[in-house]
Amino acid sequence: MGDIAEDQTTFYSNAEDYWKDVPPTVDGMLGGYGSISSIDINGSKAFLKTFLGVGEGQTGTGCALDCGAGIGRITKRLLLPLFQTVDMVDVTREFLDKAKPYLGEESQRVGNYFCCGLQEFEPEGGRYDVIWIQWVIGHLTDDHLIEFLRRCQKALRPNGLIVIKDNVSYEGVVPDEVDSSVCRDLEIVRSLVGRAGLRIVREEQQTNFPKEIYQVHTLALR
Ligand SMILES: C[S@@+](CC[C@H](N)C(=O)[O-])C[C@H]1O[C@@H](n2cnc3c(N)ncnc32)[C@H](O)[C@@H]1O
Repeated sequence: MGDIAEDQTTFYSNAEDYWKDVPPTVDGMLGGYGSISSIDINGSKAFLKTFLGVGEGQTGTGCALDCGAGIGRITKRLLLPLFQTVDMVDVTREFLDKAKPYLGEESQRVGNYFCCGLQEFEPEGGRYDVIWIQWVIGHLTDDHLIEFLRRCQKALRPNGLIVIKDNVSYEGVVPDEVDSSVCRDLEIVRSLVGRAGLRIVREEQQTNFPKEIYQVHTLALR
């Protein structure tokens, strides 16, 4: 095994080890910033709603996929209220196990709980109106992110949408040894999206987040 492959294996296994020790709570999902969850969800809702509905070119509301879903913070407050069915995918089994009690009654409308790394996950072709990817792209290598986005594009229904919402660095790639991830600057994210063959149809910065955390940007892609 060459060094790069070995580094890559460690990059993923260290992240898995990190998340296994994180409590399955909203605070755990947000690295201690549980208090910003409502601001985040409200920003996402306003962003997403402009694309949804009936009419020429509008995105349907049948089925959404929550990627790196964790316990289902986004599934519960953003996706289940807007879509008939939501699928969740996450690498951490403990979080998906917690999702059912966390979502309560509404968990009946979760179609699938996929326990899988996004680097390996193959979403079903043509199934999703929206694929939501939040606070998880830093856990994928550049090549895996590009390949995953390509698979996501094939998994969209007509007029479907992929949304990436994530931290962006001021400049370059900033590694985080603690959770084994990277934070990329916006230019790099845009370039990876382009290499995946996707077009950015809207881009927005989340406002009203604490000053000390990374800027968070939302990108709608097709
Ligand atoms: C910062 S949390 C965000 C959770 C959720 N997106 C939210 O905003 O509430 C990151 C999530 O990504 C998951 N994760 C980490 N690496 C992953 C990978 N390679 N594939 C899929 N999920 C991963 C973790 O288990 C965790 O649930």
